[in-house]
Amino acid sequence: MSGGVGIGGVLEPPQAAPVIIEDDCFIGSRAIVVEGVRVRAGAVLGAGVVLTASTVVMDVRGAEAIETRGEIPERAVVIPGYRPKKFPAGSFGVPCALIIGTRSESTDRKTSLNDALREYGVSA
Ligand SMILES: CC(C)(COP(=O)(O)OP(=O)(O)OC[C@H]1O[C@@H](n2cnc3c(N)ncnc32)[C@H](O)[C@@H]1OP(=O)(O)O)[C@@H](O)C(=O)NCCC(=O)NCCS
Repeated sequence: MSGGVGIGGVLEPPQAAPVIIEDDCFIGSRAIVVEGVRVRAGAVLGAGVVLTASTVVMDVRGAEAIETRGEIPERAVVIPGYRPKKFPAGSFGVPCALIIGTRSESTDRKTSLNDALREYGVSA
């Protein structure tokens, strides 16, 4: 969990589902996860990703984009994105979360600060 991350609680409304972040995830700086969103094991949320129950999650790993909400699959790598949406006043970009890949060695190198600190005995 990086600096400035916001994880929602379940105080309001009383029937709200808890946010669940499963094991071995990496949550980048200033990411926000609220409203009962579930982040499955090993997923990586890039810096600034915002996930509410309404946020459209676009999985663009395959030939066609797959649209979901409320859940991030195991080991998915997610970054902030925008998608066009039509309003009465015209088409505007609205935020979404983009699944751009599956966790790789390169992702692990960028998200393994804690391991490096432990390996080299650096006190933090
Ligand atoms: C998500 C993240 C881990 C990168 O994951 P990755 O799997 O290594 O992805 P890559 O760097 O290989 O990038 C793949 C593509 O997505 C793009 N991309 C990756 N992360 C991006 C981001 N956060 N925003 C916009 N584009 C991004 C890259 O530019 C690259 O595009 P290209 O192929 O056209 O060059 C990294 O961007 C990130 O957000 N890290 C969080 C850092 C942080 O918060 N640290 C806190 C402790 S200090």
